[in-house]
Amino acid sequence: MTSVEEREAALKTAGYNLFNVHAADVIIDLLTDSGTGAMSRDQWAAIQHGDESYAGSPSWYRFLEAVQKLFPFKHVIPTHQGRAAEKILFSVVGGLGKVVPNNAHFDTTRANVEYTGAEAVDLTPAHDPQALLPFKGDMDVAALERLIAERGVESIPVVFMTVTNNSMGGQPVSMANLRAVREVCNRHGLPLFLDACRFAENAWFIKQREQGYADRNIPDIVREMASLADGMTMSAKKDGLANIGGWLAMDDDAVAERCRNMLILTEGFPTYGGLAGRDLEAIAQGLEEVVEEDYLRYRIQSTAYLGEALDASGVPVIRPIGGHAVYIDARALLPHIPALEYPGHALAIALYREGGIRGVEIGTVMFGRHPDGSESAASMELVRLAVPRRTYTQSHVDYVIEVAQSVAATASDLRGYRIIDEPPALRHFTARFEPL
Ligand code: F0G
Repeated sequence: MTSVEEREAALKTAGYNLFNVHAADVIIDLLTDSGTGAMSRDQWAAIQHGDESYAGSPSWYRFLEAVQKLFPFKHVIPTHQGRAAEKILFSVVGGLGKVVPNNAHFDTTRANVEYTGAEAVDLTPAHDPQALLPFKGDMDVAALERLIAERGVESIPVVFMTVTNNSMGGQPVSMANLRAVREVCNRHGLPLFLDACRFAENAWFIKQREQGYADRNIPDIVREMASLADGMTMSAKKDGLANIGGWLAMDDDAVAERCRNMLILTEGFPTYGGLAGRDLEAIAQGLEEVVEEDYLRYRIQSTAYLGEALDASGVPVIRPIGGHAVYIDARALLPHIPALEYPGHALAIALYREGGIRGVEIGTVMFGRHPDGSESAASMELVRLAVPRRTYTQSHVDYVIEVAQSVAATASDLRGYRIIDEPPALRHFTARFEPL
């Protein structure tokens, strides 16, 4: 436990950047749901079976089987986490003059596209944050058609769909939308890839909300999602229920060969990638657990519990509540702070100062700076409270609710921030700030 004074001092030392705060000075850490969950007994048991052979380890074959049971792509390329899969794929298919459409890129995905000189385009339509629509993660299919017409098929190496849609509120993508995007891709001969980090949560929402899926089991729904794609990138730190890991998978032999060569250069041999054999075991077991309905019911309900309590007490949140996180609408809560004074950042800092809760800004700090150095307001100013899997109890979450309510009650006193030092890309991780 820390006091407000101690946290104020920690903030000063951290340059008012929560990524720089020591985790020991955080009481409830909702920075991310990535790699921060608790592994199960059976995952820890699986770790003891880890076989560390350099080539062809039994742990690799167990991992491969678990992945292909859900995502039957021909080539599976193991990486140390999701962004390594992105880096490899985009270094092979990206480059100057290329454009990659996605319902919404998350930060590292966008950065890995842009790093190759390509352009990353988000195609989620703008929604009223309060509108209770079932699939707010869907891509605007007409906008995809327009982009293809404007930029030409040759400039688009791949179309991406992120499930669930993290940047837009952890909102799910419907099977109907995946099918519609697939149809456009078919018509133009374009490959479709899933950024599948939260595939099981997405499948759960399809089962709950989409007509015709109520009686289907989750692995089946996942396989149907996979059947509409030509490949995927994955961070096993999310719906792999592991602390580290990821993969890249696809059907295309030629692209897979180039990716595998890059893997050997940067990650490791193709039967372990960036991972130890024990990590492959933990992920294989995690993939079995993550599609269990009891787990998913608990998972989605516990996130909704936090979001609905905030909503009921008048804290503006994106609705319906997403799968892995609750997104507070900082633009609505702090209308007096202009976008370029970072209202989301101000709110995230206030939650930490008040109660030691660490969330993350998803707004102009994260997405407002462009590769040409210019800056503009992001489409939304959010503070994401991500819920680690199987980690916190309901009383921890009740504490978060009380702190958020108390910060919201004095929101009009909060002031914005100024960036005093920032790197050229992914600035949110390391920038330093000053209160205005
Ligand atoms: N794609 C999405 C949609 C993500 O949310 C993330 C990570 C990645 C790719 C990259 O995966 O971290 O294993 O390299 N998101 C985390 C988050 C960090 O906090 O949402 P990674």
